[in-house]
Amino acid sequence: MTDAKYTRQTVTAVDTWVADKLFSLRTTRDAGYVYQAGQFARLGLPALDDPEGPPTLWRAYSMVTAPGDAGLEFYSIVVPDGEFSPRLAALQPGDAIYIDKTPFGFLTLDRFAPEGDLWLLATGTGLSAYMSLLRDPETWRRYRRILLVHGVRHLEELAYADTIRGWRDAPPVDSARLVYLPIATREPSGDLPQARLTTLIEDGRLEALAGLPLDPAQAKIMLCGNPEMLSAARKLLADRGFAPGRRGIPGNLAVENYW
Ligand SMILES: Cc1cc2nc3c(=O)[nH]c(=O)nc-3n(C[C@H](O)[C@H](O)[C@H](O)COP(=O)(O)OP(=O)(O)OC[C@H]3O[C@@H](n4cnc5c(N)ncnc54)[C@H](O)[C@@H]3O)c2cc1C
Ligand SMILES: NC(=O)c1ccc[n+]([C@@H]2O[C@H](COP(=O)([O-])OP(=O)(O)OC[C@H]3O[C@@H](n4cnc5c(N)ncnc54)[C@H](OP(=O)(O)O)[C@@H]3O)[C@@H](O)[C@H]2O)c1
Repeated sequence: MTDAKYTRQTVTAVDTWVADKLFSLRTTRDAGYVYQAGQFARLGLPALDDPEGPPTLWRAYSMVTAPGDAGLEFYSIVVPDGEFSPRLAALQPGDAIYIDKTPFGFLTLDRFAPEGDLWLLATGTGLSAYMSLLRDPETWRRYRRILLVHGVRHLEELAYADTIRGWRDAPPVDSARLVYLPIATREPSGDLPQARLTTLIEDGRLEALAGLPLDPAQAKIMLCGNPEMLSAARKLLADRGFAPGRRGIPGNLAVENYW
């Protein structure tokens, strides 16, 4: 077991946001598991016909927790015909979950120069990685203002909304520097527009709502979630002068595809 590329951890809690669709899973964390905010873990489960056997099925899940937290938390969708997510959703406290010893991913602070404003744009479970970044004091040291946009189909899918609103002046979050825009596309959502993130970028409403200019010299943008949204948003942002870093030169755009 000591030579294995993974550790065996224990599920400590499972919380449902929307029945059969969205849930969060908390686990123990191995002392040697050191990650950066915004990275993802590879979670493993054993074959169905060998529940006590080694893990054979692996999926990526962004950490919701900050690097300094004692345990780990993940936020997941249930894909009805998926091989992994329905099994993950069925786990109970005390059950085993395997975690690859290596954390992965580049949706991290070192992608950008530590100045200007940070734009965190997500649809669906793409929010996970941003929860970790928002909980990391380093994020607040580096950026003047932080914009968090969470786009979902229905209001009930706005997971962590109460947590985010409840952060008001709870360190490391400085609510005077955080703009949170929870946006639903398939039902009216109060004062906020019922529109896709891409539409809001295109027609200028995102800048107006954020109170921040979409200026490539100031804004550092992360994009995470639905791959079709990512490619449409990438194109819109490229036209506005945003590009990922290259050859060690930091850029102003970082993107993570979930499927
Ligand atoms: C870098 C990375 C980080 C990820 N982080 C997360 C995370 O934090 N939370 C999370 O729920 N998933 C995350 N995923 C997706 C996750 O790895 C699984 O694909 C997902 O949980 C479904 O697994 P499955 O085996 O049930 O279905 P799969 O066979 O893996 O996927 C089947 C189909 O389900 C849809 N799908 C997959 N993932 C999602 C999703 N997250 N939201 C909406 N539709 C989806 C796609 O249409 C996909 O083709 C991440 C993926 C990557 C590559
Ligand atoms: N929703 C459900 O009832 C449900 C239930 C169980 C499982 N699932 C699984 O979840 C997957 C969908 O994930 P999800 O619920 O997080 O929804 P999603 O389809 O990724 O939608 C999340 C948000 O992204 C927006 N969006 C989608 N495509 C876009 C694009 N090309 N450009 C800009 N914005 C875009 C959506 O707007 P629009 O509303 O305008 O599309 C919505 O606001 C499905 O593949 C399915 O496997 C869904």
